[in-house]
Amino acid sequence: MTVQRKKISLIGAGNIGGALAHMIALRKLSDVVLLDISNGIPQGKALDIAESSPIDGFNVNITGTNRYEDIKNSDAIVITAGITRKSGMSRDDLLQTNAKVVKEVGENIKKYSPNAFVIVVTNPLDAMVSVVHKFSNLPTNMIVGMAGVLDSARFRYFLARELNISVEDVSAFVLGGHGDTMVPLIRCASIAGIPLTQVIDMGLITQEKVDEIVKRTRNGGKEIVDLLQSGSAYYAPASSVICMLESYLRDERRILTCAAHLNGEYGVEDLFIGVPVVIGKNGIEKVLEVKMDNSEQEMFDKSVNAVKELKISLSL
Ligand code: APR
Repeated sequence: MTVQRKKISLIGAGNIGGALAHMIALRKLSDVVLLDISNGIPQGKALDIAESSPIDGFNVNITGTNRYEDIKNSDAIVITAGITRKSGMSRDDLLQTNAKVVKEVGENIKKYSPNAFVIVVTNPLDAMVSVVHKFSNLPTNMIVGMAGVLDSARFRYFLARELNISVEDVSAFVLGGHGDTMVPLIRCASIAGIPLTQVIDMGLITQEKVDEIVKRTRNGGKEIVDLLQSGSAYYAPASSVICMLESYLRDERRILTCAAHLNGEYGVEDLFIGVPVVIGKNGIEKVLEVKMDNSEQEMFDKSVNAVKELKISLSL
């Protein structure tokens, strides 16, 4: 019996692409193709990581390239290609520039790897997933955006630090678009199965502190951008992608919040936005519809409208 090695292609070999290639190698998850428009960067990063293989003991192949034909027959593809926001740039500049980049990526996925499970990371996230979907023609169960896992991880981390307990015992998630309008669901957060609302009643954390944490979660990306001065977060975004890739490749059926295609769920038609989904061997196997109270629904509707507006302003 021949064992087929898995292949993951990373479109964009910048900070997130490079971190991802290294994490995939360390976990021996699959062979990696690192593709970028810039000549030398993907080749250099691939060689650098490959040279660590005798030390770390992995035998996966890592290739750097500028040619799309090298992504042929990938099992999964992660898109981080594009520009990050620099001072003086409007959100709209980022939208139109990155839309052109991911349009080209979508067309090449259609040409070379139409059966891959595709994770989009390029911002503005929710709008970029819809562009890749449009030009790749992928079935909606095979394309998803990474944001919710990251936003939820930030929310969990902040809660764990404040409560002085293990991050592993905090369960929480964030709904909606990847932006200021995201909806961290306090009502559904828990520690070791104890609802957060009860944890507040027990006096372990105050409502004010939780509200502060919600605000900090919404600004999580900006907090890192301000600290780094140049570039944006990449370690936690890469870890978030890894957990989505593992759930797909190993059929783990994890429940992860991702920008998934809604077709009537949550009363939303034909839009990619962050909701909890089951990821297994068939990609998105199920969208979970969480019941919201009035104020949560209001926040979610606001988030849906913000994503719709961005989508409408796309000129492609
Ligand atoms: N084709 C291929 N690669 C491209 C293209 C293109 N048309 N345009 C840009 N790139 C490459 C750049 O050369 C760069 O190496 O995309 C890479 C982006 O890397 P970084 O600038 O380091 O950005 P990164 O931190 O990895 O974030 C990537 O994810 O979280 C989002 O907002 C973030 O949109 C950004 C994306």
